[in-house]
Amino acid sequence: MKKTLVLYYSATGTTKKVAEEIAVKLDADITAVHPQKPYTTADLNWHDDNSRTTFEQHEHGYRVEIKDDLPDISGYDNIIIGHPIWWAIPPRMFSAVIDHLDLNGKNVALFATSDITGYERAQSYMERAIKKNGDDVKLGQGAVLNSRQQLNDWLAKLAF
Ligand SMILES: Cc1cc2nc3c(=O)[nH]c(=O)nc-3n(C[C@H](O)[C@H](O)[C@H](O)COP(=O)(O)O)c2cc1C
Repeated sequence: MKKTLVLYYSATGTTKKVAEEIAVKLDADITAVHPQKPYTTADLNWHDDNSRTTFEQHEHGYRVEIKDDLPDISGYDNIIIGHPIWWAIPPRMFSAVIDHLDLNGKNVALFATSDITGYERAQSYMERAIKKNGDDVKLGQGAVLNSRQQLNDWLAKLAF
């Protein structure tokens, strides 16, 4: 039996709900990742030009370190990574998440939640981070899962 892990970050609970639903549907394990320094409500205000997230997301290559609580993924065949969309891309901490995981030999699927933005730029961001760290990763096309229809379509296309 193939083993699947859902690894997600959620600042305000929307991605968490979707991640939990995916985990139940696929009988997968689930775990959250966390930034070393948690985001406050003020940090998350993307209508504020001076907020922490506005700065981080606009600064090319900016590093946000993660808490040292990533699970051992060696026993999993499939890794599903979920995140909110922040300024059209994943939160910067996902570069660190990818750097800390050995995804070689794994099937990797990506999803996000957003208000309206699609997954195109997030896909490029994650592809770049994943390819930098491994050349044997089977990476599927990610999607924004803001509706039941989008979730069902994404699940139907999962290659595992
Ligand atoms: C810093 C920040 C930036 C965001 N940027 C976008 C964006 O570019 N496009 C969009 O549609 N939604 C954007 N959103 C909205 C979130 O993607 C959306 O509310 C998401 O579902 C939140 O997921 P969460 O509750 O799991 O954190 C942004 C939210 C935050 C906090």
